[in-house]
Amino acid sequence: MKDTVRGWVRDCRSLCVLSGAGVSAESGVPTFRGPQGLWKQQDPMSLATPAAFEADPREVGDWYQWRRQRIRDCAPNPGHAALAAVEAAKPDFLLVTQNVDGLHRVAGSRRVAEIHGNIWVVRCTGCGAERVERDDFAKLPPRCAACGGLLRPGVVWFGEELPPGPSGAAMEMLSRCEVLIVAGTSAVVTPASGYAAVAKRRGARVIEVNPDETPVSAICDATFRGKSGEVLPALLK
Ligand code: APR
Repeated sequence: MKDTVRGWVRDCRSLCVLSGAGVSAESGVPTFRGPQGLWKQQDPMSLATPAAFEADPREVGDWYQWRRQRIRDCAPNPGHAALAAVEAAKPDFLLVTQNVDGLHRVAGSRRVAEIHGNIWVVRCTGCGAERVERDDFAKLPPRCAACGGLLRPGVVWFGEELPPGPSGAAMEMLSRCEVLIVAGTSAVVTPASGYAAVAKRRGARVIEVNPDETPVSAICDATFRGKSGEVLPALLK
């Protein structure tokens, strides 16, 4: 089976990959669900929604500062590297990621659609100014130097729309890819949880890479029950 599936990936012209937190797990970045997941310790509705930020920007600011500190020194793993390498071999490729840690770009991926934004970007809720900020904020919650507005992380919170550029690119690629690899996602958060079905309906071959079963496992043409840092290098070489 593995050789057949590797043939699908090798021979396809248009390859799409959807990645989730599991792809960064071997880099030391906490996932959200599962035994050690972030949502096991905290309530996402009290930290990752516009209402939570409105109610307590300090609490939300503290949590994102902690997450940035937690992942700042994490490095890409062989799964990220394999995805960056296969991009160069494909005329038509897009890596759609739910991850906000930026590790795909650090690994060298360039055709990346960050549909949930990026934790290293901050946006002013007053004037809308946006910038990359990798250092800790001296004061929390951080404020805009230009207008004094509260700064929020450049990530998509529950209940918010996805950024139109990355989201549009993802849907466009799903409408034509021959193969979709779904790696490291629990496939429970929309709209990304529906992407496998979109590709499958169109006749794409869907491959899952995840140690655990997910709601999309049943519609996949092939599943690899393993860690992406081990499976992706073997599947993509
Ligand atoms: N390799 C591959 N998959 C792994 C690994 C690994 N080494 N370790 C864990 N996994 C799998 C888990 O089995 C799980 O299915 O990765 C998945 C991680 O699921 P989540 O923590 O729910 O992460 P994700 O699917 O990316 O969450 C989607 O939810 O909270 C929101 O915005 C947040 O983008 C996030 C979205």
